[in-house]
Amino acid sequence: MKVLTVLGARPQFIKSAPVSQALRAKNIEEYLLHTGQHYDDRMSKVFFEELEIPEPDNNLQIGSGPHGQQTGRMLEAIEQELLAVNPDKLLVYGDTNSTLAGALAATKLNIPVAHVEAGLRSYNREMPEEHNRVLTDHSSTLLFCPTRNAVQNLKDEGIMEGVHFVGDPMLDACKHFLPIANEKSWILKKLKQNPKDYFLITLHRPSNVDDPIVLDRILKSLNSLPNPVVFPVHPRTRKQLPQTANEQYSNLQFIEPVGYIDMLKLCSHAKAVLTDSGGLQKEAFFLQTPCITLRNETEWTETLFNQANQIVGNNPDSIEKAVKNLPPTGTCYNLEPFGFKRASTEISNILETA
Ligand code: UD1
Ligand code: UDP
Repeated sequence: MKVLTVLGARPQFIKSAPVSQALRAKNIEEYLLHTGQHYDDRMSKVFFEELEIPEPDNNLQIGSGPHGQQTGRMLEAIEQELLAVNPDKLLVYGDTNSTLAGALAATKLNIPVAHVEAGLRSYNREMPEEHNRVLTDHSSTLLFCPTRNAVQNLKDEGIMEGVHFVGDPMLDACKHFLPIANEKSWILKKLKQNPKDYFLITLHRPSNVDDPIVLDRILKSLNSLPNPVVFPVHPRTRKQLPQTANEQYSNLQFIEPVGYIDMLKLCSHAKAVLTDSGGLQKEAFFLQTPCITLRNETEWTETLFNQANQIVGNNPDSIEKAVKNLPPTGTCYNLEPFGFKRASTEISNILETA
């Protein structure tokens, strides 16, 4: 059994770490193909090192570009790679352009596609990720769902065959690396922040960061929060920040993107997380840190339990209200919706036998 895995963006490296480890434990051969969608060391290399993901067998170095161009270049290069490697299955994660390009390339060569994080839906077609999810699911043979809601979403679209509720490999990664983060990360000391006394923010959705007026409105609103705000800045967002950001928004501590170990530490000790990230909404939930989501909807509706995650969009009044409405410290969130067993082991078991 030989699997070709396509990875390209930060969250995919994190999701793949426990799955790659489970595949190795079963002696399933994995060929790792990096598309190069994310290429800065802080967006890519750091995760391979920290999470002990094997070096990619090849990096296509596609880089950034408009959607059609980026996806098209990946499609062409992945096809060549599939023809050369001749895997039994192709494995893709999540909902990025790398995911869709991998799924399309394999489908056209009649290579079965296995999709991790299948069945997620925001029902917002303005998000590029929503198209990537739907198109990938509809061309997949094996659909690994992290939640029962995801299984239902697929059923609603007529997809029942090859669907498996396996749980969420991000939970596996979080459980495995949290003790390591607690032992090894000095990020709080480095940033001079105290536990439960700062907010953690990440932003990278085009709808929040591409328009300077919208971004400024969000940053002003974060600037008036009652605690300091730690902000690891995604490169997409960095391009939009004014030179004077440090002075203009002095309550915000702008830092470079951090590795996963530091991120787990920052997330688990924050008073609350404010984010438009998909992965971070879940991690906040796993780590019992309240989350405020700066979007109008979420794919991860399980996190809405007991105000654990408040969906507020990017309006300053709604952000302020949500911060006043945080659930009391010590509120426990039920992780059962994200699976009872180790998702990565389930995925490797199914890949071995299907
Ligand atoms: C992509 C995914 C998004 C995912 C996110 C995770 C798509 C359509 N979007 O969004 O679903 O949530 O990754 O972080 O696949 N850049 C750098 N260095 C890098 C990478 C990007 O400077 O290493 C800059 C470039 O200017 C680039 C911009 O960031 O144009 C956006 O990168 P891109 O990969 O196109 O989209 P993301 O916003 O990262
Ligand atoms: N993350 C990280 N360092 C950062 C920001 C995010 O390690 O500076 C991690 C975060 O903990 C989560 C994943 O990256 O595991 C989420 O990626 P991102 O927000 O880029 O993408 P999304 O999940 O929205 O697709």
